[in-house]
Amino acid sequence: MVNDIDKLISQMTLHEKVMLCTGDNMWKTKAYEHLGIPSILMSDGSSGVRFQKNSDVSGDISFYESISGSFDSAEAVANTHEATCFPSNSTVSCSWNPELVYEIGQAIARECRRLGIHLLLGPGMNIRRHPLTARNFEYYSEDPCLTGEIAAAMVKGVQDGGVGASPKHFACHNSDTKRTRVNVTVEERALREIYLAGFERVVRKARPATIMSAYNKINGVQTSEDPELLNGILRGEWGFDGVVVSDWGAVKDAAAATRAGLDLQMPLSLSSSAYLENAVRNGELDEELIDLRVKNIVQLIFRLTENYEPLAEVDFTEHHRLARAAAAESIVLLKNEQGVLPLAPGKAKKLAVVGRLAAEPLYQGTGCAIVNAKEVDIPLEHIRKLCPEGMEVRYAPGYHADGSTDAALLEEADLLAREADVVLVFAGAFLPEESDDYNRKDMDIEPGHEQLIAAICAANPNTVLILANGESVMMPWADQAKAVLETWFSGEGMGEALATILFGHVNPSGKLSATIPEKLSDTPAFLSFPGNLTELHYSEGIYVGYRYYDMKGIAPRYPFGHGLSYTQFAYSNLTLSEPEVHLPSVLKLTVDITNTGEVYGKEVVQLYLAQPHSKLPRPPQELKGFAKVALHPGETKSVEFLLEERDFACYNPECGEWSAASGSYTFRVGASSRDIRLTAEVQVSNPAEPVAKFRTDSGFPELLQNETARQIFYQFMIENGLVTPEQVDNKLDELLAGSFWGILSFMDMHSAGVITYEKMNDVIQRINALLEEAAPGRQ
Ligand code: BGC
Repeated sequence: MVNDIDKLISQMTLHEKVMLCTGDNMWKTKAYEHLGIPSILMSDGSSGVRFQKNSDVSGDISFYESISGSFDSAEAVANTHEATCFPSNSTVSCSWNPELVYEIGQAIARECRRLGIHLLLGPGMNIRRHPLTARNFEYYSEDPCLTGEIAAAMVKGVQDGGVGASPKHFACHNSDTKRTRVNVTVEERALREIYLAGFERVVRKARPATIMSAYNKINGVQTSEDPELLNGILRGEWGFDGVVVSDWGAVKDAAAATRAGLDLQMPLSLSSSAYLENAVRNGELDEELIDLRVKNIVQLIFRLTENYEPLAEVDFTEHHRLARAAAAESIVLLKNEQGVLPLAPGKAKKLAVVGRLAAEPLYQGTGCAIVNAKEVDIPLEHIRKLCPEGMEVRYAPGYHADGSTDAALLEEADLLAREADVVLVFAGAFLPEESDDYNRKDMDIEPGHEQLIAAICAANPNTVLILANGESVMMPWADQAKAVLETWFSGEGMGEALATILFGHVNPSGKLSATIPEKLSDTPAFLSFPGNLTELHYSEGIYVGYRYYDMKGIAPRYPFGHGLSYTQFAYSNLTLSEPEVHLPSVLKLTVDITNTGEVYGKEVVQLYLAQPHSKLPRPPQELKGFAKVALHPGETKSVEFLLEERDFACYNPECGEWSAASGSYTFRVGASSRDIRLTAEVQVSNPAEPVAKFRTDSGFPELLQNETARQIFYQFMIENGLVTPEQVDNKLDELLAGSFWGILSFMDMHSAGVITYEKMNDVIQRINALLEEAAPGRQ
């Protein structure tokens, strides 16, 4: 096969090659029938397929026509093929259930195959750094472990279903203001531990067919043109063997992108292909580099087309059932005082449903993630349907479709609420229109919705709030309500899923995949978001999400991992396979979970790790694993976690690699990041712990801590007549370790010219060489 591709490439003209490095149109690659290279078709869709009806038309349209219309208009949606709208990524991550996400991936793949799509442009998986980022609903979590696990399940599901995936946007695409040109400045540790770690997990676990590079720059370099990011980290370190595709219109310099490792520039760019062709002809760009890109693209095309099985039909009824199940697993019960939920005839005879969103649900986001849902469950209808005999349901809209309200609407809802035993208030936050300044302006729900909540909470103490928003909102009014259910953007099955939870047919099991702050000014990136014009500095470093709230001791409104159930779970018997682990051995941790309540339910068991005496600063805890267990009342199950070297490691910027330091660590097992039930300590020893290379400006404390380095250096001092062997034994360590100067400066000041630059460089090189010999692979 490899030889065949090389042969094919040798038969291609330069023009044919460069035309394959860009799209044939908006959504396709170019086909070369005479060479037996078909085209592949791609389409958006993290949580459902967004396939435009005119996608296969490459025809000529005027400039004006081509810039008219938006993604979100009713016309644009109607012009999109029908598909199943699953919960958004920010929602489905609250299920903490990779198996479920895998199933969704498979369903999406089937819908792709029905439409002839070979490559799905998703999932979106950037870190939810700041809650105002408009596209956060397309991303999974503030935590890289949860993000990576869920994204890997999605990619596997899609790809096992016979379609390629394109995790996006690689990397640091965490804000939508000036998103096509913002320059993110981020320290290397945060880049590795927070922003790249999820992508790394996906590449290693799920082998995605492609990765989509982002629009932004990182530390001054365009991500699509960054050789260290694409050729170095992605391909070199992680072993990515697929195609790097650009975000739509993200390439500024096609030759730089080609050199850096970007294969496919989307969509069609005639100016780029002409530029590449000229660059080769002028000798500025090596044709072999183009060949390498073409080879990757052709390999991808064959990978995605060779066994491709188009589907004439898919079972949309079954997919709708899956969308409902996914919504039901992802909705989070944030608060439930006095067991107001689930609703039962004994607790309520008259139920008031207020808020237009009950009849016209808000269940998905906008832009390139929008889906033309085939069938949408209406919450009000399903509440009426599931409402037990003897319970009456009455409805008032409470506000207008645009989110505003007026006295008449409020009064009507208020009257209904006063006569009811329990009131369900539907409220939410709409997304802004896509623009160059697309981030949300605040974390508030719609003003009319807020007014309605205030009125109803004053009218009836048994108020249940049902929220719909793609990312967290401020909820000062939550204190006045008895219960709060967060439905997020939970897709077309939300209406039924919600009703099953309200009436206790389904026990809620969603847990927060991002912290809900008390107020905007508490958020980690508050001071640096969305940045100065096009400069965006990630000032909080590694302290993103709960890592920040924990470090600062700030109480969020609801912590990461929080979510209530209609039953209770007890945690016991936390056991480690060894009290001490010698890396690279794997450690096994087990814990028993018991359903101590009355009803069947699912618990998300979360495993965090702390390293209290770390040399490098570390957050108080980091998520290292999780498991969702289903338990009948009285049932106990044992949950097992396997911890590898990497789980203990942080990224050591001095050594330029991941490093698991020897020392003591604490496992923290719990029901949320702030509800830790059990802890256990483990001693870790790592014989291959990386050490930074010594330099002439290294300090004496580091040098003297390393016995090999210490001995060579003292020998060097003796040989140069600076100290005697007796002086070495007599307090020399103490005298030198007190220095705050680098080694060279200190020796220079005290050796009267005996220690030259050359001598110093020589001894440092000897030390490094010896250490490298003793521990190969050391930096
Ligand atoms: C978005 C991508 C999307 C692409 C194609 C871009 O503007 O950032 O997420 O896949 O358009 O629609």
